[in-house]
Amino acid sequence: MWKLVFLAALVIGSSSIEVESSNSMNMKNFTVGFLAGVGNSSSTCSASMGNAINIIYKIVGDISLDIKSPNLQEVINTLNDLQTLVNNIPSVKKCDFSSLNESLMSLFTLKGLDQLVQNYLNNGEQIFSDYNTILKCNTNYYNCGFSSGNAFKLLSGWILN
Ligand SMILES: *[C@@H]1O[C@H](CO)[C@@H](O)[C@H](O)[C@H]1NC(C)=O
Ligand SMILES: *[C@@H]1O[C@H](CO)[C@@H](O)[C@H](O)[C@H]1NC(C)=O
Ligand SMILES: *[C@@H]1O[C@H](CO)[C@@H](O)[C@H](O)[C@H]1NC(C)=O
Repeated sequence: MWKLVFLAALVIGSSSIEVESSNSMNMKNFTVGFLAGVGNSSSTCSASMGNAINIIYKIVGDISLDIKSPNLQEVINTLNDLQTLVNNIPSVKKCDFSSLNESLMSLFTLKGLDQLVQNYLNNGEQIFSDYNTILKCNTNYYNCGFSSGNAFKLLSGWILN
C-alpha cells in the first residue's frame, strides 16, 4: 500500500524537480505537454491553453529582444502576438479548473487514499509507462510534460475540460 502511495508521489513530484533546474524553453515545452496530457482529448481546452502559453513565451522573447535592439518590426511583432493572445483568451476562459481544488482536497482524506490506490490499480500499466517517460525527461520535455499530465489525470481522477 505505502509503495503505491510512494510511487504516486514520485510520479507527480519527480518531474517538477527536474524541470525546475532546466531552462525556460524546457519549462514551456513541459507545461504545454502537461496541459495536453491532463486534458480531455475531445475538448479544445488543452490546445487553447497550450497555444496561449506558446504565445506568452514568444511575447516574453520579443520584449527582451526589444530591449536589446528596438526596431519597428520587432515592436509590430510584439503587438501582433499580443493581439493573438487576446484573441485566444475567450477559448481559454471556458477551461474548467473549478473542480481541481475540490478533487485535490478530497485526495488528502482517508477515503481519498483509497481512491488514489484504486485509480492506480485501474491504470497501473499506463502510469508505469508514463513514469518511465518522466524518468527520461531531458530527452523530450514535451513528452515528459504530457506523461506527467496524463499520470496526474489518471491518479487524481481530475481532467481538464
Ligand atoms: C521544444 O523546445 C524546442 C526548443 O528547445 C523547440 O524547438 C520545439 O519545437 C519544442 N517542442 C515542442 C513539442 O513544443
Ligand atoms: C470530455 O469532453 C466531452 C465533450 O466536451 C464530454 O462530453 C465528456 O464528458 C468529457 N469527458 C470527461 C471525462 O470529462
Ligand atoms: C478549496 O477547497 C476547500 C475545501 O472544499 C475550501 O475550503 C477552499 O476554500 C477552496 N479554495 C479555493 C481557493 O477555492
